[in-house]
Amino acid sequence: MKYVIGVDLGTSAVKLLLVNQKGEVCKELSKSYPLIIEKSGYSEQNPEEWVEKTTEGLKELLDQFEGNVDDIEGISFSGQMHGLVLLDEQKKVLRNAILWNDTRTTLQCKEIYDAIGQERLLEITKNPALEGFTLPKILWVKEHEPQLFEQSHVFMLPKDYLRYRITGAIHMDYSDAAGTLLLNVAKREWSEELLNAFGLSSTFCPPLVDSHEYVGNVTPEFSAQTGLSQNTKVFAGGADNACGAIGSGILTEGKTLCSIGTSGVVLSYEEKSKLDFEGKVHYFNHGEENAFYTMGVTLAAGYSLSWFKDTFAKDEPFEALLEGIEDVPSGSNGLLFTPYIVGERTPHADSTIRGSFIGMDASHERKHFTHAVLEGITFSLHESIEIFRNSGKTIDTIISIGGGAKNETWLQMQADIFNARIEKLSSEQGPGMGAAMLAAYGSGWYPSLKACADEFIKISKSYEPIRENVEVYKELFAVYQQTYTQTKELNESLKAFRK
Ligand code: XUL
Repeated sequence: MKYVIGVDLGTSAVKLLLVNQKGEVCKELSKSYPLIIEKSGYSEQNPEEWVEKTTEGLKELLDQFEGNVDDIEGISFSGQMHGLVLLDEQKKVLRNAILWNDTRTTLQCKEIYDAIGQERLLEITKNPALEGFTLPKILWVKEHEPQLFEQSHVFMLPKDYLRYRITGAIHMDYSDAAGTLLLNVAKREWSEELLNAFGLSSTFCPPLVDSHEYVGNVTPEFSAQTGLSQNTKVFAGGADNACGAIGSGILTEGKTLCSIGTSGVVLSYEEKSKLDFEGKVHYFNHGEENAFYTMGVTLAAGYSLSWFKDTFAKDEPFEALLEGIEDVPSGSNGLLFTPYIVGERTPHADSTIRGSFIGMDASHERKHFTHAVLEGITFSLHESIEIFRNSGKTIDTIISIGGGAKNETWLQMQADIFNARIEKLSSEQGPGMGAAMLAAYGSGWYPSLKACADEFIKISKSYEPIRENVEVYKELFAVYQQTYTQTKELNESLKAFRK
């Protein structure tokens, strides 16, 4: 039997999956590391921690592995997106990585628009300037730490740095490069225009490769530290959202993913690079060669539900909180929730907006509130689906993964609100499985990622929309959509009271 390893370098932990040729997960383990939060809005990590924890994890995984390590043919990566790692000429890390969820760069986003224009930026990168993306972070370091920036030679993203430490070679794949705001997404090349506008040289950007591309072998040193064979081939890997999509089989036009974790993501496969979403949703290169995906993000999806539970049902299990929600009618008897409890990203990039419960009356019990929270989260994700549909995409089947796929009532609610068939997978491994599939495809096990997905990914159950619920939700969604505009000013006034 042959094997591959998928490494998912996340924000809180690195997860490792050992997968065999049938797509079965033979071993998995995870090692966590901390966030460094020096002040409000800052979010950093020490790249050395990623390397240490991955090394430790791989060693543990291989100590438990009873087969021949030479049968582990390939390894690949999924990575938290956008994080800035700066290296000097000797390839030494110059400072902590500034992560995707660090929001110190509002001013730099404005500077990007002033220098290049909002429309031109969208033409080149397909995305707006958001605090989380990499270019604003580069400009922040340039402005605030000029002496350190002087020494910088090349920038990398988190999983690219980890891979560099495993192979000694520097690369970046298109799916992750798309989140830097320096890539011409349609042409798949670094944008000379953007580099020139911000005084950056082209050697500052790593060579670009496809996600399944072979980029080297494990170095003798890393092999000695972990037990991995020097014959194991290393494949570039991709952005976590691209790998999550690959690992859920989102590899043909029309296939869409709804993934509910702390945040929620709706992501749809896109063959073409020419659609115009006006920057309302993200538009990135996929981990499959020459393909793309569009993506909308709800900042507090699962987080809205866990906040509600921690606040109102702290000592009860989740099952107790969800008890009885199947008896609540669509529309929660007129109770509406907006999940803006930490601000929002899609379609309203707004850090000041906050959530609401609207329409409370004396008949409402806790189960109505819980039901309304689930509806509010799902409505927020539906905003992204509507943007996709309004630009001509057909969305008829959606794979649901994460917290949203753990409850039957919520799965049916997704079918009714999205007005689409919802499919649940028999085993869900997320981005780590996508990384393993890139290694499997790169190793030549399959002629394409799609062929690999056909073998590795199975649907266990599907949920069809119920006509009468769909009608109720169509009307209620129109009310939901007004809530943002009607509560925006109120929230701006309430901001003064936030301590
Ligand atoms: C995507 C984004 C997050 C990170 C999390 O734009 O910011 O999903 O990729 O790792």
